Amino acid sequence: MPNRTPIVFGNWKMTQDRAGAVALAAGVHQATVGMAGVQVGVCPAFVHLDAVGAALKAVDSHVALGAQDAWTEPNGAFTGEVSLAMLKDLGVSWVLCGHSERRHVIGESDELVSKKALAVLNAGMNCILCCGETLAQREAGETDRVNERQVRAGLNGVTSEQMSRVVIAYEPVWAIGTGKNATPQDAQNAHVAIRGLIGQLYGAGVAAALRIQYGGSMKPENARDLINQPDVDGGLIGGAALKSDSFAGIVRAAVGSA
Ligand code: 13P
Repeated sequence: MPNRTPIVFGNWKMTQDRAGAVALAAGVHQATVGMAGVQVGVCPAFVHLDAVGAALKAVDSHVALGAQDAWTEPNGAFTGEVSLAMLKDLGVSWVLCGHSERRHVIGESDELVSKKALAVLNAGMNCILCCGETLAQREAGETDRVNERQVRAGLNGVTSEQMSRVVIAYEPVWAIGTGKNATPQDAQNAHVAIRGLIGQLYGAGVAAALRIQYGGSMKPENARDLINQPDVDGGLIGGAALKSDSFAGIVRAAVGSA
């Protein structure tokens, strides 16, 4: 099995003011600076990317800058949207695609998520493609089917070469912001199924190299058990990413888990 560098990202969602975002970024940098062997990043709101990017750059930080979304087209009449070129200009290197809140609250389709993922990769950036089932889907035994549909659609048109810049985040919707995390075994089972699908689509080498994060009420207290699962390669963190010490506790749990 290849050594997959674990990857832990904070998704700050629609929280913080400008000063709070800058302070949180500085705190995350300080608290994780010595933690080798884990890729770390933060995804502030669009309007804070510039200030957070500048704060990270000022300390030559190891913390990567990610955006929570992006638009598919390079420029033009798309009121309210933000292009990948605009994001790159601010130092953004990662973009979340298809987060469950965008799918289920904003109404993004598989097709739109797919266009976004492909646009991110064609722009030379890195994509965290999110998938995950609702509670009703889990109870109906559809977890793997939903993940398969979302991952298959999300990767439509993505080449094997581009897969080195893709991370998948399995985020069961019922676990997000609820305090209820998937059990380590539930997460492992879902990740194995996703990796199996990638094997069918891209072959064993790409599947073995792909990093799959877990997201959904991950915190320092449960992170180690989740990340120690063989197919769980880090986390995408919401609530626990909003305090630098709890986020750093999760990063610490990932150290040495490769
Ligand atoms: P919580 O960690 O707050 O459950 O959020 C997870 C998430 O949605 C990260 O993208």
